[in-house]
Amino acid sequence: MLDIERNLADRAAIAGFTQQGSVEVARFIGALTRLVGPRRALELGTGMGMTTYHILCNLPPDGMLDSVESDQALIEVAGETMARTSA
Ligand SMILES: C[S@@+](CC[C@H](N)C(=O)[O-])C[C@H]1O[C@@H](n2cnc3c(N)ncnc32)[C@H](O)[C@@H]1O
Repeated sequence: MLDIERNLADRAAIAGFTQQGSVEVARFIGALTRLVGPRRALELGTGMGMTTYHILCNLPPDGMLDSVESDQALIEVAGETMARTSA
């Protein structure tokens, strides 16, 4: 498991966030992103950013992702996570 995946899994467990996607599903969504090759993507439900990270890693260099989340606390976790990565 990547450090970022482990960190998000640990944070979700500590926060009691039970809706986080599994690492396997997030990686699969990343693989689909690479296969389809969109330049823009829209994610509905950022959560803590598990799938967001994998989509971002698999978009082309000029790709853009808009991700929507209604829970401000989750947005902050996802923002911190993305800031610590090169995604
Ligand atoms: C299944 S979880 C997302 C999991 C996330 N993609 C991941 O990889 O862990 C669904 C998310 O959608 C958010 N959500 C639910 N209704 C929403 C709405 N109307 N607008 C924006 N976000 C919403 C929830 O707060 C929750 O974080």
